[in-house]
Amino acid sequence: MDIFAITKEQIDSNSIGASACEALEAGKIVALPDHSLFDKQADIDFLLGLQNNASALHKNVAYKPAAHKVTGATTKTPQEAEQLLQVMSDFSKRALTLLARVCQPYAGKWKTDYASYRPFEEQGRDLPLKQRNDLMHVDAFPSRPTRGGGILRLFTQINPSKDRVWRVSGPFDALADKYALQAGLKEVKGGSAAMKRAAAKLGRALGINVPDRTAYDQFMLGFHDFLKGSEEFQHAPQARQMSFRPNQVWMCYTDVLAHSVLSGQYALEQTVIVPPEAKVKPDIAPVSVLERIAGFPLTPSRGRSLQTV
Ligand code: SIN
Ligand code: FE
Repeated sequence: MDIFAITKEQIDSNSIGASACEALEAGKIVALPDHSLFDKQADIDFLLGLQNNASALHKNVAYKPAAHKVTGATTKTPQEAEQLLQVMSDFSKRALTLLARVCQPYAGKWKTDYASYRPFEEQGRDLPLKQRNDLMHVDAFPSRPTRGGGILRLFTQINPSKDRVWRVSGPFDALADKYALQAGLKEVKGGSAAMKRAAAKLGRALGINVPDRTAYDQFMLGFHDFLKGSEEFQHAPQARQMSFRPNQVWMCYTDVLAHSVLSGQYALEQTVIVPPEAKVKPDIAPVSVLERIAGFPLTPSRGRSLQTV
């Protein structure tokens, strides 16, 4: 019931329509047929062979398509840096092409976010609570507010022999009904436009990026931390475990489906941000669910439409 599987024939014949988007928006994982997102085995071998130690690779290796830049990796030679950039950029292009074929209703409407390579074994990683991937959570990005947009991610893993194991819990409306008020939904405020302009100006003067967070972004960041810290939620009996095979490709909204990764090494993902109005069922988007519970708008542009309802 958590998985919506798509066949190669459905992809090839363009017959998916809105069904994958509907499943994703409802918090399901869309499982795609095994598919390599690399041009050649040598690219996979290159990623698997990158010197795997904490000083060479940071939490993850990120590829930023808009800037065509890789961060989070210290490569040994300029050639290695160039190859990493090329391999990540090729992966990102292929992942985005596949996303557009599976989610046709979203095509042209999303904002392309980063791709990442996750080269570390997840089991037993020693990270501070907020960064721990083995505790169930919904995603929220501190540096890149989505302003109500959904975080849609396409994952694959290049591990030749080991599954990647997740725990998941959803759907979002059940989670929000149970925990959103406890997590401070009613107290969250977006901050005034004048305050934000002043903060952005100061940030520019100091050369730092001050994220322009809406009340929705603030809440989701807090909700991420709240869920990771909730003993009750972490031991929720309704959580399910699922395994992804080597070479498998899967997608989900990681802000809709609470998830954690228990074990696995060498995964990649591409993220896109889907605006709520581009969704097939905007009424079940987290921002809509939360606004219903809060009783007030959580993003400025939606404020107007809510008031006219
Ligand atoms: C996460 O988004 O929490 C981690 C998912 C993964 O790397 O498998
Ligand atoms: Fe996550």
